[in-house]
Order: sequence, then structure tokens, then C-alpha cells
Amino acid sequence: MKKKLISIFVFLCAIIPAFGEILAEGKTKIVRPYPEDPTLAIFESKDDITAFNGLKHDAFQGKGEFANQTTCNVFRLLADCGIPLAFRKQLDSHHFLGEMCQMIPYEVVVRREAHGSYLTRHPSIEKETVFPKLVVEFFLKTRNLEGMGVPIPRHDPLFQLTDSGGELFLPETPIEGQKPYLILSDFPLKDRPALFEEIALMAKQTFLILEKAWQLENARLVDFKVEFGINSSGKLVLADVIDNDCWRVVQNGQYIDKQIFRDGGAIDKVAELYKYVTAATGRFTLPCNQLILWRESESDHVLK
Ligand code: CDP
Repeated sequence: MKKKLISIFVFLCAIIPAFGEILAEGKTKIVRPYPEDPTLAIFESKDDITAFNGLKHDAFQGKGEFANQTTCNVFRLLADCGIPLAFRKQLDSHHFLGEMCQMIPYEVVVRREAHGSYLTRHPSIEKETVFPKLVVEFFLKTRNLEGMGVPIPRHDPLFQLTDSGGELFLPETPIEGQKPYLILSDFPLKDRPALFEEIALMAKQTFLILEKAWQLENARLVDFKVEFGINSSGKLVLADVIDNDCWRVVQNGQYIDKQIFRDGGAIDKVAELYKYVTAATGRFTLPCNQLILWRESESDHVLK
């Protein structure tokens, strides 16, 4: 009995530091080291829900579980489709294992329709206008950014790469006629400009996969935000999470994502939608379509 207790104690000592030590903590998730491999980390989803850069905050029971399950469902589909991911595997209801990355501090937004902040920047464009060609926007994550040499007066601006440098625009102001409020000569990926193209391409491929998955659930993925990182082998990978906080999905004319929370919906209603989206993304699978190649016979060439 004593021996058994000692071995339980030793086991707990081995795992508790892994779940105790925190590498990073954000509004909705915690990153912890993975003791068996320093190139990996454990990502935990919390029960918190926030909007407007943390100004609006709440929590509900189940949020962490729904967020983790949705992210794992989404990443499993993306992995099956060959998108390079930081995600490795789901560990349990609240945790997944992923690669430690050097995160690239841009929020990459892809849009099929005009919603949200896009409408403020383009007031002449009607809500739900469809973009036949996907729109990709970069927003510079300035909050924890150091070493750019200049103070950033407004956070998380719209970023445009031009010959003059990295141009920053106010995201909540019409873009037409707006001059950049700052032009950065130094900015993330300055020395690897080709990565902007690579990121935009990967973000669009990811969007198309998830757009189709939502179509099969009779819903429209209208926009999303993704983030990228460089893993320990120096490879560009889709990182962070993709859960119900990161996209807008419309079903039967209603948002079924975080928009309901932003718009002041009751927390019970929000929880119900998150539960529904967890189940819906659980059905995301790679369809087994067959490609049939039909070779014509030589005699087909003979003119009759
Ligand atoms: O959400 P908001 O209207 O402020 O901004 P948006 O640029 O219209 O957001 C486009 C998409 O990115 C939406 O699906 C948002 O949920 C998502 N997003 C996000 O996940 N995190 C942010 N910090 C900003 C936007």
C-alpha cells in the first residue's frame, strides 16, 4: 500500500510541474511546457469569452471545452487536407498538443462577405456583399511588440506592405482617402517579404476548406482570423487556434459565432450556440470523392 502511494506521489510530481508552469497566458488560453519534448507545448482553453480587445468579458461553463473541441475538429480536417499546422493532437477535453512556434505578430483576416470592421472601412459597401475573390487583410499585433524603434500610437492597425515600408491605417475609419498614420521602416517579416504571399495563400486555402465544410452543414463561413508561426524546424505553419471566437458563420440568417456575444446576447444563448458549433465541427470530415480518369481508345481517333 505504502509502495503504491509513493508511486502515485512520484507520478503526480512528474506531471504537476507540466500543468503548473505557465509559458504564456492570454484572455482565453494558457500555454504550458510539454516535459517530454521542448519543441512542443500544451494549449489549454479557458472558460472566458471576451470582445472589443478585452473590454467586454464574461465566462460560461463549457466554453473551454467547446473551444478546445472546436479547434481540434477544425485542425483535424485541415491536417487531412495537408495544411502545415502547429497542431499535433488532442490531449483531452481542455488541452491539445502543438508545436512551440515563433509567432508572427499579424492577424490574418480572410473574407468571403462584407461584415464587421470591413463595413466601417468601406461604408459604401453593403453588409453581406459577396467577394467572388477572397479578400485578405493583415492587422499588425502591436500590443506585445517591441523593438520597432517607434511608439505605435494606435494598436492593432490595418497593415499594408508597400515600397515605402509597412503602412499602418486606422481599422475603424473609412479607408478611402485615409493616409497611413505611420509608415514603419522596420516591421515583422521585413526581411522575408515573400512570406506575406505564402501566408496569404495558406490562409485562403484554409478558408476554402472550412467554407466547404460549413456549406455541408448548411451554413456560410463569411470571414475568419488566423495566425501563423515558424516552428523549431524553421517551417511556416498555421498556428494558434481556430474556434468559434475566430470566425463569423451565418446559418438561417443568424450568426452562430461570437458575434451574438459582441451584440449583447444572453450568455445562455451564447453557450447554446458554442455547443451547437462544437457538434457541427465534429462532423467535419474529408469527403471520399473518387477521381475517375477515362482513357480514350486509339480507335476514337479514327474519323468515320
Ligand atoms: O470583429 P471585428 O468586427 O472587430 O473585426 P473584423 O475585422 O470584422 O473581424 C474579421 C474576423 O476576424 C471575424 O470573424 C472576427 O471574429 C475575427 N477576429 C478575431 O478572431 N480576433 C480579432 N482580434 C479580430 C477579428
